[in-house]
Amino acid sequence: MLNLQLGRQVFGDEKNKGNLLEREVALSLLNDWVKNERLKLHMYQVGALMKAWAIDKEQADDKETWKWEMSGLLHDADWDQWPDQHCRKIIEYLEALNIDPDVLHAIASHGHVHFGVEPITKMDKMLYAFDELSGLIHAYSLMRPGGYEGMDVKGVTKRLKEKTFAAGVSREDIHDACARAEIQLTDLIEFIIRHQPAVGLNYH
Ligand SMILES: [Fe+2]
Repeated sequence: MLNLQLGRQVFGDEKNKGNLLEREVALSLLNDWVKNERLKLHMYQVGALMKAWAIDKEQADDKETWKWEMSGLLHDADWDQWPDQHCRKIIEYLEALNIDPDVLHAIASHGHVHFGVEPITKMDKMLYAFDELSGLIHAYSLMRPGGYEGMDVKGVTKRLKEKTFAAGVSREDIHDACARAEIQLTDLIEFIIRHQPAVGLNYH
């Protein structure tokens, strides 16, 4: 097992709050760094969920919403080409560009067991919560004739209980994330079914 511990708790500088990448720059970074189409779709899906949550549940303004979406879009940017440097590489890259420390912290805490950084803010916690469950729900959509159409919470809950289905998805992390974010698992599942896009952007 790779040692991905980041070995620090502070990321970026408070004076950079509000500094975000332009949308086009973030998307071209994703496109340049990630070649695996499945991973690209995952990052886009998590970005879209973060955006939907910020608007629906946090009443975020446009800038705050983009901060949530950008964190989701880029959280796995280095996983494809540099898995042994995940997520150190993307954090250091964004840090050198003086990006908002909230984004850096959200990325750094999306897998606290691996990176050694606890999710603190609501944005941290939602990125952690969406990450694993989004993948399982997408895998479920691929085996249903109608995809996301007609999918319900019950069906997803059943898949979650089947340990062999999407076996790489940590059920423990999903339950831990819900407890930390103080949301019901069923509500999270419903939100993802409703807001997860079935296909990605055309990045090329
Ligand atoms: Fe992810």
